[in-house]
Order: sequence, then C-alpha cells, then structure tokens
Amino acid sequence: MKTYLVTGGAGFIGSNFIIYMLKNYDNIKIINLDKLTYAGNLENLREIEENCNYIFLKLDICDKESIKKVFKENDIDYVVNFAAESHVDRSIEEPSIFFKTNILGTVNLLNLAKSTWETKNGFKKGKKFIQISTDEVYGSLGNTDYFTEDTPIAPNSPYASSKASADLIVKSYYHTYRIPVNITRCSNNYGPYQFPEKLIPLVINNCLLKKSIPIYGDGLNIRDWLYVEDHCRAIDVVINTGFLGEVYNIGGHNEKANIHIVNVIIKYLNENLDTTITEKLIQFVKDRKGHDRRYAIDPKKIRSELNWKPTTNFEEGIVKTINWYLKNKNWLHNLTSGDYQNYYMDMYKRQGGMYGKI
Ligand code: NAD
Ligand code: TYD
Repeated sequence: MKTYLVTGGAGFIGSNFIIYMLKNYDNIKIINLDKLTYAGNLENLREIEENCNYIFLKLDICDKESIKKVFKENDIDYVVNFAAESHVDRSIEEPSIFFKTNILGTVNLLNLAKSTWETKNGFKKGKKFIQISTDEVYGSLGNTDYFTEDTPIAPNSPYASSKASADLIVKSYYHTYRIPVNITRCSNNYGPYQFPEKLIPLVINNCLLKKSIPIYGDGLNIRDWLYVEDHCRAIDVVINTGFLGEVYNIGGHNEKANIHIVNVIIKYLNENLDTTITEKLIQFVKDRKGHDRRYAIDPKKIRSELNWKPTTNFEEGIVKTINWYLKNKNWLHNLTSGDYQNYYMDMYKRQGGMYGKI
C-alpha cells in the first residue's frame, strides 16, 4: 500500500487529485497536509472525508518540526506538492507570502523527504517527490511558438518567479543528491472547486450575481486551458511512470483568448438559465501589471514518453464546469460567507487537531 503525502490538498487541483486517486485506487493511503489559507476548503473533500484511506492534517509546509513528525510516523512513498499561493493578482499586491510558501515551503519538504529517504548508497527504492509547477515559469510567448521542457525559464510575475525558483531548487537537489523527483508544468486548469478569484469561476459567479465582469486590457491574452481531471490523471501517470529527474509539460492544445472564454460562458448561461445574462456585463478594465500575453504548451513529451493525452475537450469541459457551479451554488456562497471555515474549524478542534481517520 503506497502512502501519498499530498500538500495543498484542500485547494482546487489538490482536492480534485485526492478525489480522483481515491476513486481509482483502493490500495493507497493519502495524507492531505494543508494550511487552510483562504484558498483551502475542506468542503471540497466532503465526498471522500469518511474514506478510511484518507487523513487530513492542518499544517503549514514551512513547519519543519511538525512535518518531520509526519515523515517519522508514516512511511511516505510519494510527496505531491500542490501547496502554494497561486493567484497572480495577489502576488502583484503582496508578493512576500509567495516566496515564503512557494520557495521556502518547498525547500522544507525537500529537505525532510531527503533526510527520510536517504540511505548509505542513495535513496530508498520507490520513493518520489513530485513538484507541481506551472507553465507560467516559462514567461510569455509570441503568436506562434510553444513551451517545451527546454524553453528557458523566464518568469514575469512574483507568482511565476516563486514557482520557477522552487523548480530550480528541486532540479538542483536532483543533480546534487539524486533525490528522486519529477516536475510537472501544466497550463491553466478549470473545473469544479476552483476559487472564484480565477477567471472561469469568477465569470460564472459574477453572471449569477449579475455583477460586472472585469476583463483586463483588450481581452486578447491567451491561456491554454486543461480540464482539471485530465491534469490529475497526468500527475498520476508521472508518479507511476515518469523518468526520474525529468520535467513534464502538461497541456492539451486548448488555446483561447480571455474574451472568448467570457463570451462562451455568457452565451451558455443566457441560453440555459437566464436571458438577462448578456454581454452587457462585460467591463474592460485596466490591464494587470506585467500581464503575460500568451501561454501555450507543447505536450509532445508526456504524450510520446508516458502515453498521456487529455480526454475532455474545451467545449465539453466548460459545459460540465458551468453546470457544476450551477448545481453547487451553496459552495460558492459558503466560500464567500466563511461559514464552512467555522464549521470545519470547530470539527477540527473537537477532534484534537486531527481530522480524518488513519
Ligand atoms: P489553490 O490556491 O486553489 O490551492 C492551494 C492550496 O494550498 C490551498 O488549499 C491552500 O490552503 C494550500 N496552502 C497554501 N499555502 C500553504 C502552506 N504554506 N502550507 C500548506 N498548505 C498551503 O491552488 P491550485 O489552483 O489548486 O494550484 C495547486 C498547485 O498547482 C499550485 O502549486 C499551482 O502553482 C499549480 N498550478 C495551478 C494551475 C491552475 O491553473 N490553477 C496550473 C498549473 C499549476
Ligand atoms: P487567472 O485565472 O488569474 O490565471 P493566470 O493569470 O494564472 O493565467 O487569469 C486568466 C486570464 O484571465 C489572465 O490573462 C488574466 C485574465 N483575467 C481577467 O481578464 N479578468 C479577471 O478578473 C481575472 C481574474 C483574470
């Protein structure tokens, strides 16, 4: 039975990953280690919270002593490091926490994995540290090219530079110590449980509330969108079959301009929910500082070496996503009211600081 230490598992992708893994494997144990920042929400994990192969620990990835104890008390096989401050706009406003969590937190986890897994002649067999990174470390593209794993790192935002720094540190630990690692760099994700500060859930939420939809600049910035479950499957594939020390880009050639995404969502809600949801909600606003123009992943390596490809195209994925948010309006509401935080914090305290079953 393999034991996964998943950090940031109460966030958007981490919670989707835990649900995906527990649905697909009954012979694994998952320890979800999350600080529960504003972006962490245990509500995301309600469907698996009773699973006896799942345990939640409210911890900061920068906390050396507590995580040392987690490594000591559990035979961790895989660290899957999702934990991060993840929103570019917040990193522009308040960068310091991005450097602390995304860089120093990763260093702390790496050091603990290294000291726990190290043997006299290398590392215990079957162990791996998976750093969940992002295509944003590569910077911005012109109109035609693509990010490959060999594209030079050239991050532009404080968020991207914090992720790039962590990647370089992970790489240096592989080069120096040969600690078993993989780095994954995925394009923009969308799907259930994404915090409504990010473009797609923000647009859906604002349409439902009939609030204006802020589009930065001319709305022609391009992102390469991947349905979150495809990302989770890719991570599973990298954990199981990725070659040690390798970086894998993850994406599905779904490049869309922001204005296109917004129009697709408005059109769907207009036709299927409420005819008063129209393009009139769109408001072009001042551009994001240093706004990257275009991201686009070349996924050739993961396709050809690990035989992964996405299964959900954008047209299908966006409809699934919109319908999920329509069915889960309470989730959006609770997020903004903070009720769920109080509910889970009470439960957490009642259970003596540990929520879940070992
Ligand atoms: P998110 O903001 O939704 O979730 C982050 C999670 O990390 C939250 O649960 C939060 O509580 C937790 N966290 C934050 N600081 C912590 C700390 N110090 N200790 C422990 N837990 C902490 O983020 P997401 O969108 O799910 O992204 C997850 C990872 O995937 C990030 O590393 C991000 O860089 C990467 N990524 C995201 C995308 C995307 O489109 N969202 C794309 C590519 C890569
Ligand atoms: P975002 O979801 O923040 O992801 P990232 O910046 O990590 O790619 O933003 C996606 C794109 O949408 C990006 O080009 C910025 C743009 N955007 C807006 O135009 N308006 C908004 O309110 C937000 C949140 C993003």
